[in-house]
Amino acid sequence: MHKPVILTGVRSNAEPTLGNYLGAILPLVRLQATHAGEYQINAFLPDLHSITTPTDYKQLYQSTINNLRIYAAAGLKLDDPNTNVYRQSYIPAHSELTWILDCFIYYGELARMTQFKEKSAKQTSVSVSLLNYPALMAADILLYDASYVPVGEDQRQHLELVRDIAIRMNNQFGELFVVPESWENQMKFNGNGAGVRIRSLKHPSQKMSKSIADPAGTILLSDDPKEAKAKVLAATTDSLGSINLNYETQPGVSNLLQIIASIQNKPLNEVVSEWKGESSYAKLKNAAADLVEATLSEFQAKLLQFSSEDALDTLSKHEEAVRGIAEAKLNKVQSSVGIRP
Ligand code: TRP
Repeated sequence: MHKPVILTGVRSNAEPTLGNYLGAILPLVRLQATHAGEYQINAFLPDLHSITTPTDYKQLYQSTINNLRIYAAAGLKLDDPNTNVYRQSYIPAHSELTWILDCFIYYGELARMTQFKEKSAKQTSVSVSLLNYPALMAADILLYDASYVPVGEDQRQHLELVRDIAIRMNNQFGELFVVPESWENQMKFNGNGAGVRIRSLKHPSQKMSKSIADPAGTILLSDDPKEAKAKVLAATTDSLGSINLNYETQPGVSNLLQIIASIQNKPLNEVVSEWKGESSYAKLKNAAADLVEATLSEFQAKLLQFSSEDALDTLSKHEEAVRGIAEAKLNKVQSSVGIRP
């Protein structure tokens, strides 16, 4: 029997933020640490997704490689025999399967995706790839029969669409794909890291994101740790004067609690009860700021130890190994739809 597959990707165009680190990278590192041996883990770099919106094309190649260094510096063990790291575009089967899936996905399904509606509203001309983004994501997942896809809440709709497509094609062609687990099961599986969505420190009703041009609210992994600390100390809170978890009425405070919980790897409700009855926001900010500073310092030191050459070697080796798995699945699908014997 094959081991169940855990698969996830982090986009490689934007410089990763603390939000990406706590919401996606660290949960994966922790999954690897706790589930070593029981699962196959695929952590890949979705460079084809990166070009769905205009990006810094000159830097993309290098920043993709850099992303692997980031995983390594965050603690992902690259010599683990059950972990694969690869670039999406180096496995052509991703693109080829996307086309076939496209023939079984309805236009309306893609057009109603919240992320598509939000992203396309911000653009004067909308690329077809932006609409088709979830189909490529489906290929990423279904090629490797992944059961667990640790992603944030913002990807929930996409994951549900992937399940729908897998079920639809299995109904028509027999057992082609492993259907990824339901969102509910994904959340159970992820435990502490479940759907963590770190907010902007300045505008805590919004996600922390490099793309919203909010330098004071966004911590990049490349930020000077002292400056990052200062940003946390200057975080927007509220005037209620008590520490509770409530993203509607106290988004800033809730975000700080979440940052603390993520870094300390504790359940959020445990951290909430530790701070219950405390009224000083300064204390809360200090605690979060110290943790962020220490996290960045440690991360940046480790990043220096893992060169781009090391990263490229590692990627090429894994890509060689993964290509065969992806091609075997692609072949199976190609013959089901009649374009291979
Ligand atoms: N869309 C994901 C994001 O923006 C990245 C991604 C691409 C992904 N393909 C994937 C995540 C497959 C999980 C599985 O975060």
